[in-house]
Amino acid sequence: MRKQEQFRTFRGYSLVDADGLTPGMEDYLEMLYRLASGNTYVRLVDLAEKLSVQPPSASRMMQRLSEQGLVEYERYGIIRLTEAGKQLGDSLLQRHRLIEQFLRLMGVKQNVLKDTERIEHIISDELVCRIKWFVLFATEHPEWLGDFEDWVSRQSPLTGDSSQELL
Ligand code: FE2
Repeated sequence: MRKQEQFRTFRGYSLVDADGLTPGMEDYLEMLYRLASGNTYVRLVDLAEKLSVQPPSASRMMQRLSEQGLVEYERYGIIRLTEAGKQLGDSLLQRHRLIEQFLRLMGVKQNVLKDTERIEHIISDELVCRIKWFVLFATEHPEWLGDFEDWVSRQSPLTGDSSQELL
C-alpha cells in the first residue's frame, strides 16, 4: 500500500527544509556564502551586522552549522565555510536569485526581497525546477512576456493591478 502523505501545519512544513536546515540556518548560510565570495573567511561581527542580529545569536548559530559540518568556527570570530557549506550556500543563493528573478518577471514591484526571503524557505524542489524552466522560457520569449504584460494591464486600466479584484 502506498505510504500516505503526512500532513503538517504550515509552520511544520517550513520549520525544516529538505536539506535538514531550519529557515534561520539557511539564511545564515546564504549570507555567509555571499560574504565569503572572494574571501577566505568571514568575521562574525560582519555576518551579524549584515543579518541585523546580535553577535551572540550569530555565534550560537555558527555552533549549530559547525555541528552540521557546514562551517569551521574558529576563535576570534573567524568563520570558514567547509566544502559542503560552500556547495549548500551556493545552491541557496541560486535559489534566492531564481525566485527573485521569477517575481520580477511576473511584474512584482513591491516587497520583492521580503517575498523572496519568505518563499525560498517553503518552496519544494519540484516547484524550484518548474520556476527555472518558466524563467528560461520567459527570457527566451520576450514577446510572450510582453503579451502577458499587455493582458494584465488591460485587466485594470487605472493601475494595471488586478490583485485586489482577485482577492
Ligand atoms: Fe535569501
